[in-house]
Amino acid sequence: MDPLHQDRLRVVRWPWIVALLVIFGIGVALTVANGWQAHAKEFLNLLVRWLHIIYGIAWIGASFYFIFLENALERHNVRPELSGNIWTIHGGGVYYLEKYKTAPPKLPPYLHWFKWDAYLTWVTGFLLLVIVYYSDPRANLLPPGSSLAGWLAVFIAVGSLVGAWLVYVGLSRTPLLHRPALFLWVGGVLVAGVAWALSQIYSGRGAFMQVGAMLGTIMAANVFFVIIPSQKALVRAAQKGEALDPAFVSWVQLRSRHNNYLTLPVLFTMIAHHFPFTYTHGANWLILVLLFAAGVAVRHFINVTEQQHHTTLKTGGAMPYLLVVAAVLALGVFYLTAPKGGKAALSGEPVAFEEVRAIINTHCHVCHATHPTQPGFASAPAGVMFDTPQEIVAQAERIKQVAVDSEYMPLGNITHMTQEERSRLGAWVSQGAKGPVK
Ligand code: HEC
Repeated sequence: MDPLHQDRLRVVRWPWIVALLVIFGIGVALTVANGWQAHAKEFLNLLVRWLHIIYGIAWIGASFYFIFLENALERHNVRPELSGNIWTIHGGGVYYLEKYKTAPPKLPPYLHWFKWDAYLTWVTGFLLLVIVYYSDPRANLLPPGSSLAGWLAVFIAVGSLVGAWLVYVGLSRTPLLHRPALFLWVGGVLVAGVAWALSQIYSGRGAFMQVGAMLGTIMAANVFFVIIPSQKALVRAAQKGEALDPAFVSWVQLRSRHNNYLTLPVLFTMIAHHFPFTYTHGANWLILVLLFAAGVAVRHFINVTEQQHHTTLKTGGAMPYLLVVAAVLALGVFYLTAPKGGKAALSGEPVAFEEVRAIINTHCHVCHATHPTQPGFASAPAGVMFDTPQEIVAQAERIKQVAVDSEYMPLGNITHMTQEERSRLGAWVSQGAKGPVK
């Protein structure tokens, strides 16, 4: 057994790969024979998204765990070859771990590596980008009425993933790397600039996702191009009995810290598409940057408190102010994204449910029905259906969010909804969203 090669994919042998390909082939044949393309795309979306979340949780979970170890290691009174040790309890067992400064004098036959979760998170994430955004850029990536060619939109998007990595590598080669606070500011300004630029060409949702994908790409590439190769170098050096430069080790640790600070911002962009109020805002790039900053502050708070028990920080110390910073940022976003016009709408003339139903039937029901009539929609998008009066009344607040407070719906205003109709819906909701009179 070689400590350089711990590879769980080794258990997958040819017969299994053939079986999987056959099952996939049957799926393709069924799709082609029945014209199920739209359904197949939705189904793939589901499977790939599921996998993406599973790998993402495994990757980020392990990363949080190891950062915690690094933060919380007991560094005093340990053997000279160790940088620290730690006692933990989990799942009914007590674990004792030791961390070596570089590598142990003799390597064990088997080393557990953590890399596939990171790679597969990126691969499934990229596939999702293709399924949801790149395969049909007019649907979600570009704003309604954009004159940008679809292929160019996808080209810029994919190019920005590569570009993000190259710029990050460039920055990491400068002395900035050793000045984390300054690195954060420079990085933050760059991210804000990119968010602004992308929000000029893409839909809000597309821009948010693209910024998240750029940061996620930096994280995964850090694992692939920096962290894993460095670990291999460490193992090889240990095998030859050579000493490894501690400066090299700390360089790798800095790069891995960057990933740590990127996690919370990236996770926000992964859930942001559920919250149209964030990305349909006129200054959506600013909303993104403010929430990113809140995420970084919270991550730093976690890191500092994890180190606390063996640092000299006085209780309270520098930490709680980070939470206050995050809370102020969140409050700022809450205020900026609040519905405008507020209670004034209450005083309009009463809007009867029948009128609302007619508007929804004309403008929403083509997609939001058990059986949508809009081509390309196999089932009700986001599970939102307006088949019955009860469904419409129950979702009044959501209707207001996406069609009155913002113009996110109807998607791309495909059904040409007017401002007048939007304010009629708004008035109906603020008058209490009453159902049909019996
Ligand atoms: C062309 C098809 C189409 C039309 C017309 C349309 N929608 Fe949607 N709707 C979508 C799609 C696609 C999504 C899912 C988008 C997403 O996941 O961000 C969606 C999502 C939604 C959601 C859930 C948003 C969320 O993430 O919470 C609501 C609520 C909604 N639509 C309401 C409406 C209303 C109200 C109208 C009419 C004024 C309307 N839609 C018209 C396609 C449509």
